[in-house]
Amino acid sequence: MFEVLPHLDPDPILGLSAAYREDANPAKIDLGVGVYKDENGNTPILTSVAKAQHVLLEKETSKTYITPQGNQGFIDGMLSLLLGKSSQTLLANRVAAVQAPGGCGALRILSELLVRCNKDATVWVSDPTWANHIPLIGSAGLNIETYPYFDKATASIRFDAMMDTLRKVKKGDVVLLHGCCHNPTGADLTNAQWDEVLAVAKEREFLPFIDVAYLGFGEGLDDDAYGLRLLVENLPEVIIAASCSKNFGLYRERVGLAAIVTENTNTRNIAQAQIQSVARGIYSMPPSYGGALVDIILSDNALNQEWVNEVDTMRNRMKALRAMLVQNLHDNGSPKDFSFVNDQKGMFSFLCITPEQVREVRAKHSVYFVDSSRVNIAGINQENVETLAKALVSVL
Ligand code: LMR
Repeated sequence: MFEVLPHLDPDPILGLSAAYREDANPAKIDLGVGVYKDENGNTPILTSVAKAQHVLLEKETSKTYITPQGNQGFIDGMLSLLLGKSSQTLLANRVAAVQAPGGCGALRILSELLVRCNKDATVWVSDPTWANHIPLIGSAGLNIETYPYFDKATASIRFDAMMDTLRKVKKGDVVLLHGCCHNPTGADLTNAQWDEVLAVAKEREFLPFIDVAYLGFGEGLDDDAYGLRLLVENLPEVIIAASCSKNFGLYRERVGLAAIVTENTNTRNIAQAQIQSVARGIYSMPPSYGGALVDIILSDNALNQEWVNEVDTMRNRMKALRAMLVQNLHDNGSPKDFSFVNDQKGMFSFLCITPEQVREVRAKHSVYFVDSSRVNIAGINQENVETLAKALVSVL
């Protein structure tokens, strides 16, 4: 049976972690997989999450199954967080939603739902986009095309070219947008550009598919939701895949939300049953633990505030690290101006160097990041920044 399977290269992101672990160089630096790290290079459990774990331990009395839609408290809390408590769309009961196993699980079940609606739909993704978007969406059987997004030569968004492509998208096609903190480039649309995206979505009648995995890491929890809320409040249909991996630090617990904004409550109820049946056909129901923790945090004022403060701390630290990297590159004689890194948002930046340069810095200096030149900003710290800057400058 299995000898027919072809060899597979390691995953472009997860494979880096394995290579980093095997590297014996004590000065190695890991800027690969998108995981938040503190000044000591650790990924600690958030204090709000640790407290919620204690609450859950006390109050959980059974391990019987939860339902295919997951924890309703989690779903309600996440929808308020994403769409805002006063969302008219939520109040009108136009949103179907399920708890999903991570943002990946949400992306996949929404893609499967799209196949049930229109198996010939094309999903337009940004060029570049997160490497795992293509397998997650493509394996469901949908066609994938790209729209221009980022220009490495100028380190800026190709907004005019993006809009030219979106103006040609067919009615019934799907456009995947990153809600904030674009992965891999860190280059986000401005609010005015989101307004233009809304206008073209209305004109072309495509379905926005919003992936929001880094809410709070750009400018703040509400500011980062601008584009998402704009589209949800002004279009009849939108789908959303949200992740709690990064902003709640719940990576391994696999916590996400898949939401479907529909034109009316009747369609909402049908979509709710359909997405639950998609989930049932793949993994039956989501794991309970992480969603229960998020529910506890979002429904308790004090814990919620503590969590918001922790998100603020992570965001502000990553902003400071950007400035520190740019300064160190400059101080170490970089021939290239990296000041654009300060304008990028969230966990990632595109350094806009070539794959050959990325591989050279990995081979010679044990600095690990994705060939595209995407670095995880949170992997930088006071201790490694100078080594990092010197290593980068040496390959420019
Ligand atoms: C990343 O982009 O590094 C993260 O989202 C982790 C992953 O699964 O790729």
